[in-house]
Amino acid sequence: MIGLFDSGHGGLTIFRGLLRRFPDLEFVYLGDHANAPYGNRDSVEIVDLTRAGVEQLYARGCKLVVLACNTASAVACRTLQQDWLPAGGYEGHNILGVVAPMVEAATQTPWAVTSPQYPQKYNADTIAVFATTRTVSSGVYSEEIRKRCPRVTIAEQACADLAGAIEQGRARADLDAMVAGYVGELLTRTKGRAPERAILGCTHFPLIEDLFVQHLPASTRLLSQPDVVADSLEDYLTRHPHFGGKKGDDAAPRLLTTGEPERVAQSLEVFWSEPGAFERVG
Ligand code: DGL
Repeated sequence: MIGLFDSGHGGLTIFRGLLRRFPDLEFVYLGDHANAPYGNRDSVEIVDLTRAGVEQLYARGCKLVVLACNTASAVACRTLQQDWLPAGGYEGHNILGVVAPMVEAATQTPWAVTSPQYPQKYNADTIAVFATTRTVSSGVYSEEIRKRCPRVTIAEQACADLAGAIEQGRARADLDAMVAGYVGELLTRTKGRAPERAILGCTHFPLIEDLFVQHLPASTRLLSQPDVVADSLEDYLTRHPHFGGKKGDDAAPRLLTTGEPERVAQSLEVFWSEPGAFERVG
């Protein structure tokens, strides 16, 4: 069984992508609604909350957990993989994040390659990243892209209020105006230059991908996080097939929450139209 962890609802966009790609595999999703959102929290809190979520999923029998949250992946993934997992007695377990697949897709360079490749690809390119405030301030997208493609220009845009506005189901006209504003700020910083590629580095943004397409220059290619993460997991499971346990014939996806299931259900429809209700954990 593979676990997915997110701060709340947003990771359901990634979950849907994985269910489409792996209809036979067993997944369980945990949303930390009691502590959402993570996007404006400090790093120590995010690491602690993410570790607690991963522990819950391990305790339920998941050997592999995907952090289906950009903020948790940006801030906590490396620390948990490198420091906590080896010290915690979790042999045979692993954690993957959603930042690494996006960096691989944006640079066309495998994660294992951490130095520039020659001849340099994409030297003159500009890569845009739209994300929460904490993901942008972590600097992880820039750092990891630059390791592989040091001469690309990276323009990161913190979209402080956008995830919350999507979650509240705000009117499309409001979301449209917000996206126009964030894209406009980013293009001012690139001095009007169209980015070759754009990463929507927040789980909520695929829900309004069309608004980003509308406001970004037509030549900018958007990297779709649910698809890119599904590609990456497919590749990982080819190399580590024992993590991919099969589900029962008519088993519905399991949804867990640290919050109040009734409250959580109220804003669920923005993210999830499939069957299934959240059960409380913790
Ligand atoms: N899931 C978060 C992310 O992808 C967005 C919501 C939050 O701030 O917790 O960054």
